[in-house]
Amino acid sequence: MTHVLRFRAPGRVNLIGDHVDYVGGLVLPVALEQAVELRGEATDDGIVRLASASFSGEAVVDLRNPVEGQEGWVRYVVAVIEELADHSIDVRGFEGELTSDLPSGSGLSSSAALEVCVAGALAFAAGVELAGMELALLAQRAENRVGIPCGIMDQAASALGRRGHALLLDCATLDHRLVSIPDAIGIAVIDSGVRRRLEESGYAARRREVEHALAVVQPEAGSHDVEASLRAGTAAGLDGRELRRLRHVLTESERVRAVAQELERPGGPDIDELGRLFASGHASLRDDFEVSVPEIDRLVELAMEEGAIAARMTGGGFGGAIVVLAPASSVARVAERVSNRYSAECGRTAAVLLSAAGDGAGLIPGLS
Ligand code: GLA
Repeated sequence: MTHVLRFRAPGRVNLIGDHVDYVGGLVLPVALEQAVELRGEATDDGIVRLASASFSGEAVVDLRNPVEGQEGWVRYVVAVIEELADHSIDVRGFEGELTSDLPSGSGLSSSAALEVCVAGALAFAAGVELAGMELALLAQRAENRVGIPCGIMDQAASALGRRGHALLLDCATLDHRLVSIPDAIGIAVIDSGVRRRLEESGYAARRREVEHALAVVQPEAGSHDVEASLRAGTAAGLDGRELRRLRHVLTESERVRAVAQELERPGGPDIDELGRLFASGHASLRDDFEVSVPEIDRLVELAMEEGAIAARMTGGGFGGAIVVLAPASSVARVAERVSNRYSAECGRTAAVLLSAAGDGAGLIPGLS
């Protein structure tokens, strides 16, 4: 007898800590309520066949002969299957349907959610319960295999998120803990409509630049003396651009720590301080890391004018979305007003996604 299984993996929005995961910094993402879901059952024909209206098309992978060089989302499925095999998981044939209510291309990690979902489901069908950081690392390796040199943040948020919480993750040690988000704070994600694909963006270039700068300076782990590191970089001959990249990663983890502390402040966060931390994080990504675009900068300004507590670009940048914190009672109104003003000014639609912090990936019980 076969068993129908349903497995889901959410997208993520990062509250703060961008472009630091791949150099061992601190990040603070939340799992969204929107997710990718796979529903299906194991088969004995040695073929993984996943249909999807949401991703458009079908992935058909012959396990005896997985073919590389596929297009679009199918590449992720092939990469996950290869990673599972490398993990000594005996992947079985599977027939299922993938659905998603995550917008793709707006920086909410629909590809990470897809990888985590397919990996978790196919492992489960093979009798292996992959979860938590192990699942996240496998999914990250699949994404790297496709050619995107991402860090661990997106897959970790998708695998380890928890309702009502953000995930505070040290990407150097993989130590992590949950940070409760006060009920009074609502989260909105506003999509600029400026599309990006990490492969084509400057993501890999930024990563190379900052890795080079860090290799030259070698700041001591845990050192908070940004000025000393920048002086060391100047003395070692780093140019102005490399020094700015370095300043971003050295200051960003401090902001992450401070935002987590505000969220957990007994009696509630200092709202002005949260706003200031997000603003300086945004400025650092815009001016020092140069991964923002004018449309995103404008959305951040509009959000603050319309009554947000805090707003900043989120994710890899070069377009995509902003994350907005606003009083829970008014977050929908604030986001709608921002979206309307943006559309009137820029002639583009700014889709709004309202989401509380949701649960990480897992089996959806109830079917057999
Ligand atoms: C993308 C990557 C992540 C991370 C962010 C920037 O989402 O997939 O690993 O580097 O960009 O913080």
